Amino acid sequence: MPKIELTAEDEAQVEEFAGNLFMASLAAMELANVELGVRLGLYEALAGAGPTTAGELAAAAGIAERYAREWLEQQAVAGVVEVDDVAKGPDDRRFTLPDAHAHVLIDDDSEACMKPCAAVVPWAGKALDIMVEEFRRGTGAAFGLFDLHDLQAAFTRPVFVNHLVQTWLPALPDVQAKLESGARVRIAEVGCGEGVAGITIATAYPEVQIDGYDLDAASIAVARDAATAAGLSDRVRFEVRDAADPLDGGEYDLVMAIEMLHDVPDPVGILRTMKQLAGSDGAVLVVDERTEDAFTVPANEMERFLHSFSTLHCLAVSMQDGGVGTGTVIRGDVLRGYAEDAGFSSVATLDVEHPQFRLYRLS
Ligand SMILES: C[S@@+](CC[C@H](N)C(=O)[O-])C[C@H]1O[C@@H](n2cnc3c(N)ncnc32)[C@H](O)[C@@H]1O
Repeated sequence: MPKIELTAEDEAQVEEFAGNLFMASLAAMELANVELGVRLGLYEALAGAGPTTAGELAAAAGIAERYAREWLEQQAVAGVVEVDDVAKGPDDRRFTLPDAHAHVLIDDDSEACMKPCAAVVPWAGKALDIMVEEFRRGTGAAFGLFDLHDLQAAFTRPVFVNHLVQTWLPALPDVQAKLESGARVRIAEVGCGEGVAGITIATAYPEVQIDGYDLDAASIAVARDAATAAGLSDRVRFEVRDAADPLDGGEYDLVMAIEMLHDVPDPVGILRTMKQLAGSDGAVLVVDERTEDAFTVPANEMERFLHSFSTLHCLAVSMQDGGVGTGTVIRGDVLRGYAEDAGFSSVATLDVEHPQFRLYRLS
């Protein structure tokens, strides 16, 4: 390795850059400790329990007391829990999880819930092993290989629960009018994952019929169980299917693809299927990442988040079988190009605010 001679200016940059990476590693380690708390039910045990000793937490959560103490101390220095008196003996200190932190760590339906962000840490380790090989090979990797479906659903659940019925569907006035008329409305979703979007809509509108399609059998199994558990299996169906293949099934009032187009090897094929399913009167809605219009450096946090997911997962998935290789950072002009190739004549960006997602109506 060549010896690098550093100038005084370089030295300052070394300090700043090394410091940034150290802080990133600290953040990753602290997130791993949050994930420990999530997996062991420690936050549930602490939430609303008031000041708690290590022994009380150990008893409530069924873990070894020495670990409970070490973890509580770690959580206190990381600013997750509060400690009553550091001067007390380790077994007598009492730790409190503030209600605001409990909300962030426990409430799966809240957009403030950061459990999925903690779960990214162990997931990234698995993705890394796949991607080291894949970077050399360059032939793409299947979605199912990454075991992402639960984490994916954990990320998108709060978005669907808080926005889909409240602001997304109303941004399609013709669809909304049909929904409010009480008539039977047929909705297809391609790349439905664990089916949370369809189940959310069907729960809100008793006349809606949903057909969800996804290539990933593990996702569809979870989606079917969720539809059954919600008592919706008579009108919410999920099927393992390649949505790039033409699908029969008649005309739908709405055909949706949510956070999936950037992941697929053949996005034009998917859009052609969606066009066919919508027929002459149905609406076509594509929801995908709210990227910048062009490659931007320095980038905002969301753009950095999207780029990080792309190199660890999405690009590889979209490169399977000689796929186009879009990746997570799907820019508006790329999506418009796919729509044009699929035979759509217009792509309207809907007036819906969301920090991560942009809604496109294709006609
Ligand atoms: C990032 S996930 C999004 C899942 C869900 N829409 C959500 O927002 O949580 C992308 C989904 O697209 C599915 N998918 C990819 N290619 C597909 C294809 N050709 N046909 C059907 N589904 C596909 C994947 O299996 C995966 O479930």
